[in-house]
Amino acid sequence: MEKIPYDEILNIQKKVNIVDVISGYLPIEQKGKNYFALCPFHDDHNPSMSISPEKQIYTCFVCGASGNVFNFVMNYEHISFSEACVKVAHEAGINLNIKTVRKTILKDSKYDKFYNMFDIANKYYQNNINTVYGKAALSYLKNRNIGNEEIKEFKIGLSLGDNNISKLLTKKGFDENEIIDIGLCGKNDSFLYDIFRNRIMFALDDKEGNVVGFSGRIYNGENESKYVNSKESVIFKKGKILYNYKRAFNHARDKKQIIIVEGFMDVIRLYTIGIKNVVATMGTAITKDHVDLILKLSKNVVLCFDGDKAGEKATISALDMLQEIGLEPKIIRLEDDLDPDDYVVKKGANSFLTHLKNPMSGLEFKLEIAKEKTDFNNYQDISNYVNYAATLLEKVNDDVVYELMVKKISKQTDLDISYIKSIINKVPKKERKIVTKPKIIIKNKYEKAEEYLIYYMLRNPDAILLYQNKASFLTNKTLSMIAIKILEFYELNHYIDVTNFTLFLQDDDKLIKEVLRIDAFDLPGNVKNDVLQDYIKTIDEGIIKREIEKTKQKINVEQDVAKKIILLEKLTALKKKECK
Ligand code: CTP
Ligand code: MN
Repeated sequence: MEKIPYDEILNIQKKVNIVDVISGYLPIEQKGKNYFALCPFHDDHNPSMSISPEKQIYTCFVCGASGNVFNFVMNYEHISFSEACVKVAHEAGINLNIKTVRKTILKDSKYDKFYNMFDIANKYYQNNINTVYGKAALSYLKNRNIGNEEIKEFKIGLSLGDNNISKLLTKKGFDENEIIDIGLCGKNDSFLYDIFRNRIMFALDDKEGNVVGFSGRIYNGENESKYVNSKESVIFKKGKILYNYKRAFNHARDKKQIIIVEGFMDVIRLYTIGIKNVVATMGTAITKDHVDLILKLSKNVVLCFDGDKAGEKATISALDMLQEIGLEPKIIRLEDDLDPDDYVVKKGANSFLTHLKNPMSGLEFKLEIAKEKTDFNNYQDISNYVNYAATLLEKVNDDVVYELMVKKISKQTDLDISYIKSIINKVPKKERKIVTKPKIIIKNKYEKAEEYLIYYMLRNPDAILLYQNKASFLTNKTLSMIAIKILEFYELNHYIDVTNFTLFLQDDDKLIKEVLRIDAFDLPGNVKNDVLQDYIKTIDEGIIKREIEKTKQKINVEQDVAKKIILLEKLTALKKKECK
């Protein structure tokens, strides 16, 4: 992925104000010369994130999240640095030629031919459905209440019993092996044949909206497998794609909610009743890549899998996966084993909307499943149920939810509320939530010297030149990297400025965080050259000390006498150096 040039980034940054940009995402409050907000990068209860209009930097003093305006947008939206730049520029009304920038960003030209092949195939399939050969497929779709509008919108097509894709693509000069690799055609003895035959074709898009695969559904006769999918290829990995991602993107952002279903038809059906913030996992279990995509849409997730046992299993695994990263998805369970598509058709849009207005919490869902497995006439079953419920309730922080749930369980089991509370309270309430305090790391003088030198290198060219001419290296890898980058920045721009330096570091969050941590030290702004020289001296001492320690350790374990002597000589030399 190509980077946006530093000058271009600087240009955008000069024209926007981080305060305006962040206030477009979060409520912020002015206190003195800075602004404050609840930090979106950790579970914040008091505004811990400060935004400096002067420096154009945000910093959270609890979790340490920090950076410039682009880093904020990148991290908040879970998009790449380049995408964040494009977005900030666009929102600030800066006339950046987005198309060309996008093109440089997405310059994956080696895959262009594959996108091209799918595009050609897709157009052919789409055309088929409106020809005389498409009558049966069209009436199948009409029977399922899928009209022309949806067919067009979802790029639904039709493969025929011919080998026209093979012919079309070879005629256009595409490489035969590549046509096969991409999964559109196969080879039999000497002739190429089409993989998809007589199926209604669902185009599968990647997150940019390029067709990268197909799923073909049978529509006449039920004795073949219902769906056939494109095989995995360099541009198509089913576990990395959510059906309808691109179309749902803005709807999910606007609604601040994303609904997750299993199938194509579920997505399309909900679309017909005006619910457009929906994506489908395409029947597979939710993957880590799916979760990353979901996070880009919204953190407010509603799981609406099929109402059958398989859907229930899928819900549990998705719930676990999302809870693990701190989300609290809501859940819709549909009655009568129906999937969302059948549900809307059979019970009407309003019944579905009622469910959508009242989704369950993860806790309610887990309890309900346990309840269904419990025989309330069997004491052992009841005991298991109550103990399981207690483990769930231990994690509830909301007092009202807690009381209501306890009451409910009491009613279900005929056990006293006080008894149920007594087994839950084994975990003291205030310990329920684990709060991790940032560790205080005590640094020795050598480590401090490296940090202080960086502090001055970030504001003082003398320090940079001194580092360049005098320092051997920094032992801390991150600091060493920062020093190298400062040199690079200085050589290009002939000045140093912390904020611009973070722009130069682009998406290197780790370095940026460390740079801003050190930049916030309370050290005198002006520094004498002697002090800087002292830092260098201390750093060098530290390097020798480390080297001495390492050599000593080697001597201890060395068996070979000759080698041991060499090491001892080295040690003597190092000690001499140390005394200098
Ligand atoms: N799926 C798939 N390959 C299969 C079976 C299923 O990719 N062999 C995916 C499809 O995305 C499908 C989803 O899993 O939409 C759910 O499967 P299923 O519930 O069987 O299909 P429906 O979506 O209900 O399709 P239809 O209503 O047309 O029967
Ligand atoms: Mn279905």
